[in-house]
Amino acid sequence: MVCLGNICRSPLAEGILKSKLPKQSFFIDSAGTSNYHIGELPDKRSIDVAKKYGIDITDQRGRQFKVSDFDKFDYIYVMDISNYQNVIKLARNNDDINKVELILNELDSGLKNVPDPYYGGDSGFEDVFQLLNQACDRIYNKVLKNIS
Ligand code: 4NP
Repeated sequence: MVCLGNICRSPLAEGILKSKLPKQSFFIDSAGTSNYHIGELPDKRSIDVAKKYGIDITDQRGRQFKVSDFDKFDYIYVMDISNYQNVIKLARNNDDINKVELILNELDSGLKNVPDPYYGGDSGFEDVFQLLNQACDRIYNKVLKNIS
């Protein structure tokens, strides 16, 4: 799960998907394309909205996306088109490129970007949680189908 800062959207996406999939079968992680918040806890507003839905994301720390992530992961979900462009710039070949997907393409809503809630209020975080929860339900169904 990839966003810009790895403190608002992608930590929520990581926590939500982890809450749905069996830990022993899936390695799920998140990263930011920037180096702005390396080593930091998720934003308090993300921590709070996750907690509201029974998900603890306080074990997460910000890290920057790196080229070796293309080798480590089968699916790389990005939160918006700008994140997509930043990740694609690091791709070495078509196999890398083919792993990268806008997470909202999993929904049929026509919405492309998970809105960046960083500069807004708490309601932005609630909206982001709901969008990501719907997208992660789709991802859950897709990846379980692919391993069965
Ligand atoms: P995120 O939100 O990409 O969802 O983690 C942001 C967090 C921090 C900044 C921008 C977006 N920032 O500019 O520091």
